[in-house]
Amino acid sequence: MIQFEQTFMNFLLHHQEKHNRTYHFLILMDGLISAAKHIQHYYLTGALKGNLGLAGDVNVQGEDVLRMDQIAQEITIHYLRASGRVIHAISEESKEIIPVDPEGGRYFVYFDPMDGSSNVPHGLPVGFLFGVAKRNLEGPEDYHLRAGKDYIAAGMFVIPTGTFTLALKDAGTWRFHIDETMNFVKPVRMVLPENPKSWELSFNEANRKTYATGVQEWLSKNESKYAFRYLGALAGDFHRILANGGMFMYPAIVNHPDPKKNRPEGKLRLMYEAAVVAFMCREAGGHAVDEKGTPILEIQPRTHHQRTALYVGSKPLVEDISNVLKG
Ligand code: AHG
Ligand code: MN
Ligand code: MN
Repeated sequence: MIQFEQTFMNFLLHHQEKHNRTYHFLILMDGLISAAKHIQHYYLTGALKGNLGLAGDVNVQGEDVLRMDQIAQEITIHYLRASGRVIHAISEESKEIIPVDPEGGRYFVYFDPMDGSSNVPHGLPVGFLFGVAKRNLEGPEDYHLRAGKDYIAAGMFVIPTGTFTLALKDAGTWRFHIDETMNFVKPVRMVLPENPKSWELSFNEANRKTYATGVQEWLSKNESKYAFRYLGALAGDFHRILANGGMFMYPAIVNHPDPKKNRPEGKLRLMYEAAVVAFMCREAGGHAVDEKGTPILEIQPRTHHQRTALYVGSKPLVEDISNVLKG
């Protein structure tokens, strides 16, 4: 007997139908899925073809190596354009806002096509993160940058692991796995576990002494209760937190011995990293805040590459550290 699983597209079609929604979002998602599969292909064959090097490298055939993040960017822009549904895109890989289809488009897409670049030369997991907002259909579009609470969906692919997680506004966070036909299948609703037994903490331990004193004290007091895991790629680290519970954090760097290396505004980008995981986390019952304890989803971006500190995961943990952050 062949075992059949529900495909992502079938799941989404039914979802749109049930909520009396149009098919525009499906067309957009089809583009994002195609992009992810295409990136996955390059990543899987990258080590062999010499595509995992740094820009400026030459591969074994003597050709210039295209950095994976450039490949991923090119692929994603192609599919967003082909969807005919995107007004503007904002990408970690492009300094300027990318006009895709300013007249006919319906959505804004904020994305990081290759997140966790230190894993790339090793072929280890990286992420493709994206958030989607819809244009103002009621009146003139003002093209303002949207806060995470105004996203309609946010998701991530873990590459080349073949997992896809998508959160739909007020409709939960869902995880899919790639099957032998390269379809994402078998929707599983993700809800952060309440039992702290499986909870994990995830942060760059090497930075600990650079964190604010309150954060360091919170860690000393609480860390022995939880397992510690850190991959160095937000998508992979957050993937575990969604399943096991706990907290991922990338705090502000405020106590670096070389003050020039302080990052009081944090490292991660608000629109296509922090808000994306914060949105998925909220739909799975969790929470996310910045260094002031402000909910990530409430932050109105001032610029498209704005950075933020990030604390994301199980509500009790994020709320607890949030009280410390609020002082
Ligand atoms: P990117 O590869 O897109 O530049 O960002 C990597 C991010 C994120 O994925 C990860 O959680 C974090 O940076 C890791 O940073 P450290 O190496 O400082 O721990
Ligand atoms: Mn990134
Ligand atoms: Mn990136």
